[in-house]
Amino acid sequence: MRIYNMLPLKIGDLEVPIPVIQAGMGVQVAKADLAGAVARAGGIGCISSVGLGSIEASQNDYISDSNNNLITQIRKARLLAPNGILSVNVMVALSNYDNVVQTCIDENVDIIISGAGLPIPLPGLTKGSNIKLIPVISSGRAMKVVLKSWHRRYQVIPDAVIIEGPLCGGHMGFTTEQVLHPELVPIQGILRDVKNELAPFEAEYGRKIPILGAENIADANDVIEKLNMGFDGVHVGTRFICTEEAGIDIKSKEVYVKAKAEDVVVLRSPLGLPVKVLKTTLVEKLFNGEKIPFGCPFQCLRACEASKAKFCIADALLKTLFGEVDEGLFMVGSGVGRVNDIIPAEEFFEPLKKLV
Ligand SMILES: Cc1cc2nc3c(=O)[nH]c(=O)nc-3n(C[C@H](O)[C@H](O)[C@H](O)COP(=O)(O)O)c2cc1C
Repeated sequence: MRIYNMLPLKIGDLEVPIPVIQAGMGVQVAKADLAGAVARAGGIGCISSVGLGSIEASQNDYISDSNNNLITQIRKARLLAPNGILSVNVMVALSNYDNVVQTCIDENVDIIISGAGLPIPLPGLTKGSNIKLIPVISSGRAMKVVLKSWHRRYQVIPDAVIIEGPLCGGHMGFTTEQVLHPELVPIQGILRDVKNELAPFEAEYGRKIPILGAENIADANDVIEKLNMGFDGVHVGTRFICTEEAGIDIKSKEVYVKAKAEDVVVLRSPLGLPVKVLKTTLVEKLFNGEKIPFGCPFQCLRACEASKAKFCIADALLKTLFGEVDEGLFMVGSGVGRVNDIIPAEEFFEPLKKLV
């Protein structure tokens, strides 16, 4: 079955014509230029709040440096898309989580998207504001925990939910075994479980919670496939790395463009979670047991086991930002083999606009 009339995505009183949220991607992949372009094209733009402060330049003041840079990005994105919908991705693992959330409220961001851990305290931090909250989860069980605790502690439920499937990029809420064998945890099954968990809460609160699917979306046909599966929209990462507006150096974008599906491997991140990456020079070294020396003047990720880690993930992602491809870490989704060009972000939306 093909969807000929795509429905707009409604999140509370917010609405966009194209049901696509561009994923928050750190470090500095998803900043104002990308978020603004996506919001202008009719989707929801997202700024990633991780790694915006310079650890080296501001060892004593990483938190205010991060906040100031986030404010700059939010204001720039608003200028680029004055009528668009803007979100900020705030990883639960961030040491400066509370500060970033407060900055989003102060700057009138429309939506906070929060994953890489369960965002249990989030509604307490945003109480009294109208900011919409979207947790990112990977199982019905995680959905249940979020729903029960938000309902019990704060008498709220999420405004939408993002399900990250086993083929998606970023830190993953799956075991390494599941990441290596995604057929064990198909996203359709997770969708069914999440819908079951949501149903009693939707009935009690009298509103439907939109569910977005995240994994392996390279083009408009993949979007349609997810909508046909029963998702209300999609959350797209890897495709938007290879856009003109993504924040990383062109040399790093070219690494992604050239990558094939078989170049994707699974690494244990210093956060203790499996993360999909391209098999590059740095990753070969890590697989060979080498330790990449690093200093840690500020523990930017709360759960980072810096003393045990073989490398600093922030350092490695900054290398990717600056195009130092041999030292860089290239986090990626399984669909990278089908992303073969660098496009203006708007081009992704063109075929979808015809279905509105
Ligand atoms: C390079 C990269 C960086 C990412 N950074 C973040 C992040 O900072 N916070 C987060 O919650 N998820 C992050 N993710 C996960 C994405 O938000 C998204 O859910 C995922 O990439 C979707 O799968 P796809 O890449 O197959 O489209 C990242 C993913 C990639 C590929």
